[in-house]
Amino acid sequence: MVNKIGIITSGGDAPGMNACVRAVVRSGLSHGFKMFGIYDGYRGIMEKNIVEMNRHSVSEIINRGGTILGTARLPEFADPEVQKKARDILDSFGIDALIGIGGDGTYKGLAALSKLGINTIGIPGTIDNDVASSDFTIGFDTALNTIVECVDKLRDTSSSHQRCSVIEVMGNHCGDLAAYAGLATGAELTITPETPMTKDNVIKYLQAQRAEGKKHAIIIISEKVTDVHEFAHEIEAKCGFETRAEVLGHMQRGGSPTATDRILASRMGVYAVELLAQGITSVCVGIVQNQLKYYDISDALKLPRKGSDEFVRISSIIG
Ligand code: F6P
Repeated sequence: MVNKIGIITSGGDAPGMNACVRAVVRSGLSHGFKMFGIYDGYRGIMEKNIVEMNRHSVSEIINRGGTILGTARLPEFADPEVQKKARDILDSFGIDALIGIGGDGTYKGLAALSKLGINTIGIPGTIDNDVASSDFTIGFDTALNTIVECVDKLRDTSSSHQRCSVIEVMGNHCGDLAAYAGLATGAELTITPETPMTKDNVIKYLQAQRAEGKKHAIIIISEKVTDVHEFAHEIEAKCGFETRAEVLGHMQRGGSPTATDRILASRMGVYAVELLAQGITSVCVGIVQNQLKYYDISDALKLPRKGSDEFVRISSIIG
């Protein structure tokens, strides 16, 4: 039976992580568990940066972006020796369960600790929406709304100057942020890793648009697909549009979480603790068709991603 639960946030921070930490801590206390915040992700375990939390430790954070626990990327955690040391440190604090909020990298760490005897639960928290076992991840909705706000502003100036704007958005290797943002902003073109569109096709499309009298265009493109600055030069040279590239960058990760993210985070946090209370561990939680579900973590890591081709297809019709 679980007694002491540790909580970490790990990988890239995401708006709504704090709302989730709050939900986990408060629901854990209501079940009679002792709750411990572990700072700076897996690094905080290695550095014993672990503090007991009470109800007030998580006051006034539901609306805050980032994560009060801090986060880090720790590639060394893939090393089995480091994992064993982490298990021993958690044992020395009497922490017998660990809830981790993050993406696939976080889940891999949890899966390893679970094999070493720690009760683990993963909660999907990343702006990328690239966790296959959940329709949505905590932080995606806020980042999407941030992108939409930025693109709307870029559209104002781009149309005033009769320019083409090539806007790079985050997502790691997942095109969801681009696909959803493209549809929500009425972008002329959306380019994601899952919907390969060659540069030649883009150039031909824009040349045809220009020939028909089109004066400006918005292109949303996922990061890591191409160098957007070079691409903007090529478009300007070959299509006749004055073109600017914008990389939205880390601002997409910041800001107060939307109501949707706060609610998702709160539901998932409470659910994760309920699972532990029922003795269900080594799982990750997800939301599928608005129902909370859980999956074996190792199985979840093998699930294929769904992709968002439909959004890109619709955008191409009405953009
Ligand atoms: O996983 C979230 C994310 O923001 C990705 O979209 C992006 O590729 C990456 O993190 C950036 O990482 P870092 O903040 O370490 O540069």
